[in-house]
Amino acid sequence: MKASVCRGVGLGFETMDVEIDHPIGSEVLIDVRACGLCHTDLSLAEADYGFTFPAVFGHEMAGVVRETGPLVKDICVGDHVVGCLIAFCGRCVACLSGRTHECGKSGATLRSADEPARLSLAGTAITQGFGIGGFAEQALVHENQLAVITRDLPFAQAAILGCATVTGAGAVINTARVRPGETVAVFGTGGVGLNAINAARLSGASRIIAVDIIDSKLKRALDFGATHLVNANDSDPVEAVRDITGGGVDFAFEVIGLPATQEQAIRATRHGGTALLIGLGKPGSRITLDTSISMLVEHKTIRGVAMGSTNLKRDIPIYADFCVDGRLLVGELVSEEISIHEISSAYQRLMLGETLRSVVTRW
Ligand code: APR
Ligand code: ZN
Ligand code: ZN
Repeated sequence: MKASVCRGVGLGFETMDVEIDHPIGSEVLIDVRACGLCHTDLSLAEADYGFTFPAVFGHEMAGVVRETGPLVKDICVGDHVVGCLIAFCGRCVACLSGRTHECGKSGATLRSADEPARLSLAGTAITQGFGIGGFAEQALVHENQLAVITRDLPFAQAAILGCATVTGAGAVINTARVRPGETVAVFGTGGVGLNAINAARLSGASRIIAVDIIDSKLKRALDFGATHLVNANDSDPVEAVRDITGGGVDFAFEVIGLPATQEQAIRATRHGGTALLIGLGKPGSRITLDTSISMLVEHKTIRGVAMGSTNLKRDIPIYADFCVDGRLLVGELVSEEISIHEISSAYQRLMLGETLRSVVTRW
């Protein structure tokens, strides 16, 4: 089958013929119909996070089930499924406590070293990014990383639910648990940030302040529910957020991954407010905290957010239904549908701010 292979850090994406195994145990073989280009895959392809190459990335994947392993119980051939990079064992204390996003034994969903690799290239094993490997015609995924959704949602939109939506919307709904009337700022209005803004509207936030440096992206944030727009190139975003809210927001979500904007998000929260760090920093990146005033006297909380504290089997089908009835805007995030050969150029367009989400739908 065709797959887009990344042969090493900085070497880009190349279409190759890759072998994929049949499902064993709790695995599901999927005919991939759509796979979104999340920023995280580009980060992993361009900087050394310790990943083993060659690798097939692509973790915003949606498709149709072709074959199931003998132990799969709740997923059937023909089901429409969405993949999610949260992998959970289902047996550890975190999983049994309902916090599958904190599972410490997620490796249990992968094959062991003495089993044949799921993906291989001329007999050599290939790393399957996040256990999914969606930049390919087919994907072989553990059932615990798959949610069955309505058949009414187009695949290009369904794919985005698996990362951008669970990460952005989940941070608002599950992690912060934003209540009606509370105030929110979102730093970074890319694919993930817009989902956070949309979820803040769903949650009844009174003020939803979008912060970005590209006017066209900010303007789009209005459709998703932003009530105020701040271009951080034109004014100090911390001052702007404080002015709009009279002292700072209840919740500031950082969805970029830069130390400067992470510090801005912390400073933009009110006394007792919470900054939620969603954006993935570069390896080794650090922030500086003023532990005299900002953190202690102002009684602030900083939270790292793992995948929007998502329970994928519960949340993704709900988000899919919200998309179908128009409460979550996901179609508006799909800037273009591309072929598997165009992944490198589509990532360049993302970095130039020309697109929100490119989605592979053609092989
Ligand atoms: N200030 C404000 N906004 C900025 C700044 C800045 N200094 N630098 C970049 N941005 C904006 C970009 O203009 C863009 O709109 O941040 C946004 C980032 O969006 P995308 O590139 O679409 O990235 P996205 O897929 O949304 O992911 C954002 O979340 O999951 C993580 O790894 C992911 O770190 C990434 C982050
Ligand atoms: Zn677990
Ligand atoms: Zn992602």
